[in-house]
Amino acid sequence: MNQAHPTGDFDGLAALVTGGASGIGAAIAALLRDRGARVAVLDRDPAGAPAGTLPVKADVTSDEAIRNGVAEVVAEFGALHTVVGNAGIGAIGTVEDNSDEEWRRVLDVNVLGLVRTARAALPHLRAAAAERPGAVSITHTCSIAATAGLPQRAAYSASKGAVLALTLAMAADHVRDGIRVNCVNPGTVDTPWVGRLLGRAADPAAERAALEARQPTGRLVSADEVAAAVAYLAGPAAAAVTGTALAVDGGMQGLRLRPAT
Ligand SMILES: NC(=O)c1ccc[n+]([C@@H]2O[C@H](COP(=O)([O-])OP(=O)(O)OC[C@H]3O[C@@H](n4cnc5c(N)ncnc54)[C@H](O)[C@@H]3O)[C@@H](O)[C@H]2O)c1
Repeated sequence: MNQAHPTGDFDGLAALVTGGASGIGAAIAALLRDRGARVAVLDRDPAGAPAGTLPVKADVTSDEAIRNGVAEVVAEFGALHTVVGNAGIGAIGTVEDNSDEEWRRVLDVNVLGLVRTARAALPHLRAAAAERPGAVSITHTCSIAATAGLPQRAAYSASKGAVLALTLAMAADHVRDGIRVNCVNPGTVDTPWVGRLLGRAADPAAERAALEARQPTGRLVSADEVAAAVAYLAGPAAAAVTGTALAVDGGMQGLRLRPAT
């Protein structure tokens, strides 16, 4: 157990993290594990799932694969209390740049992927909520792209705006089932995803500096910092928190600084 959380606030809880084999999802899976949960990582490529978690290969674009994956997790753990819908993909461009096929792909993974995951998990979450009031939740990885206009991110932003609205609607639908639904809105996070973006830039160092400067803290967010926010929202300490979007963005959404002198 992680010494920072000696009480193991997730002791006895079973968690599932989609996209948990890389970046933010891997940090979430590792933190929930360290805080006492049994954790399954559902990923299209689960090779990077943190040690001590249950890797389950499934693509969130397949309803059948998700249903089978969730069934496998519940068979292994005997219950499901915590779902983190985190798998997501990016898209670069204005509305003039992306094909209908690319739009469908982004919405299929980023929005419908969460729908399929929740649909498969909800019967198990309802059953768990009856036994562990306040401890049962769904948390989505949304994005600052849901609440701020970012250039060259039309399809991605539309998908994350949908994630924010979906989170609120689901929170209303399931509050009386005892299931809390929230999301985190990260700014730019230092993950393999951003590494790939930087790798494609004409001047990666300049691109990284521009991304860092866009956040008032002057640096990228770490995956562990997003994981800490997810663990708060998913944990028993947040038993009164539902329908909330928690920004983890170095102040990017809320602050308006004067230029440095
Ligand atoms: N990195 C950022 O700056 C940032 C900022 C805000 C929000 N986010 C969101 O955080 C989430 C994770 O991003 P990341 O930066 O850790 O990315 P990442 O590319 O490092 O990890 C994404 C993981 O999701 C998995 N995945 C992708 N498509 C899948 C599918 N169809 N089915 C199953 N698994 C799939 C990948 O295999 C990978 O393990 C995404 O939803 C992303 O939109 C990222």
